Amino acid sequence: MNDWATPKRGSGNYDLLIDLAGQRTRAGLEEALRAAVRDGRLAPGTRLPSSRVLSHDLGLARNTVADAYGQLVAEGWLTARQGSGTTVAARPAVPPRRPPAPPAPPAQVLPRTGTRDVVPHDIRLPYVLWPGSPDLSSFPRAAWLQAARRALTAAPNEAFGYTDPRGRPELRTALAGYLARVRGVRTDPDHLVVCSGYTQAVGLLARVLRGRGARAVAVESVGLPDIPTVLRSAGLDPVALPVDADGARVADLDAGVPAVLLTPAHQFPLGVRLSPERRTAVVAWARSTGGLVVEDDYDGEFRYDRQPVAALQALAPDHVVYAGTASKSLAPGLRLAWIAVPPQLLDAVVREKRLADHQSPALDQLTLAEFIRSGSYDRHVRRMRVRYRTRRDRVVEVLAARAPGARVSGIAAGLHAVVELPAGAPPLDTVIARAHRLGLAVPGLSDFGSTPGRPPALVVGYGTPPDHAFATALDLLCDALGTRA
Ligand SMILES: Cc1ncc(COP(=O)(O)O)c(C=O)c1O
Repeated sequence: MNDWATPKRGSGNYDLLIDLAGQRTRAGLEEALRAAVRDGRLAPGTRLPSSRVLSHDLGLARNTVADAYGQLVAEGWLTARQGSGTTVAARPAVPPRRPPAPPAPPAQVLPRTGTRDVVPHDIRLPYVLWPGSPDLSSFPRAAWLQAARRALTAAPNEAFGYTDPRGRPELRTALAGYLARVRGVRTDPDHLVVCSGYTQAVGLLARVLRGRGARAVAVESVGLPDIPTVLRSAGLDPVALPVDADGARVADLDAGVPAVLLTPAHQFPLGVRLSPERRTAVVAWARSTGGLVVEDDYDGEFRYDRQPVAALQALAPDHVVYAGTASKSLAPGLRLAWIAVPPQLLDAVVREKRLADHQSPALDQLTLAEFIRSGSYDRHVRRMRVRYRTRRDRVVEVLAARAPGARVSGIAAGLHAVVELPAGAPPLDTVIARAHRLGLAVPGLSDFGSTPGRPPALVVGYGTPPDHAFATALDLLCDALGTRA
């Protein structure tokens, strides 16, 4: 079990995804840690949270965690050194993966309903509750500047040249450790490709798939509006996969469609997670058809309940492309994202990245590498998680008081909530237009795709406003939802 809660200062302030599988005891924790080290998820040298931080996160007594660490040090799984905390001990290399699966068969083309082009940065209103952007005023400028200075000072001369299209090795190394520790991703620095945002990653993958004969790719029927356009521009037809309370209906996947794009941890924008049964089913689909799953883990770090949702990629690293981004955890303007690519696709993806822009900007990559390595990334995420959770709670509280009947859902994670219009509220377009008149930009659920049978709803990006504007934005939202004409 995992609870990401109050941030703390000092060393050992790291996140760690650990599934105790109901064994909330010292023995359970020891076994979960042994398993994570044994199967390579926690690589040698990975720094673990202090016993204080982990005990808080897991809701266990501090002594329990300290004793478990002590036992694992005695057994040689971990090492503990005064001043540098607890780290994973050296161990023999992990055996190589199974050989890659053959390329996917050509796809069967299916129709898809279109979505309106929604471009939030074109909407110039003083208040914004838009999903997709974190609170930009919280960008950790001082820590980023320090990391940039250290990174620039240490950068080798070759970093200023044309280098590996996959990205800087420093960043790929830092990311491989971070993703294994926090999201359970199974990869290594060689199989990571740094991209200019998830959007570019989809474009690269789309061209690779098209080059292998694909004609269509399945996407969730509600999602990021630009993605179907990106697919179309690579010559692929996006095929709508309906989404319900258990996530995307993966049983509807056609065997002829060679790939599916999913948001398993926190469906965008509905906020549900892909059920365990469907996670298993989509992996079985990928294995039996040779299909590819693209896992968009855009806000996987911001989970507020105690239920860990590890990356789907860990179930089938040869069939799943894991995609992460700094767009929520830090800022979209960085244009830094990363994909963990199965071996059989790697050369083709690297070629597309080279043809697209050769490589992502080296200095920003080096800075992010240093930011992660120094622990600043963990500290920032933990701090922001608390802030966003507080805001989320406030949204629920204020709506319950001022717009009773406005059902709020999708709030176990992320930076946005789906808010159904209360009975007696005007039609969705009227609510949105009214919000605009009041100076508030907020989109409707229907702006993100088709949701047949669902009541009209807004998608409220509570992460977006700066702190000082949050209360007013919420106020305006309630005004816009009001049943008064
Ligand atoms: C569902 C989803 N995936 C991915 C992203 C990140 O995209 P990018 O990395 O291109 O900024 C976003 C940002 O809004 C998103 O909403």
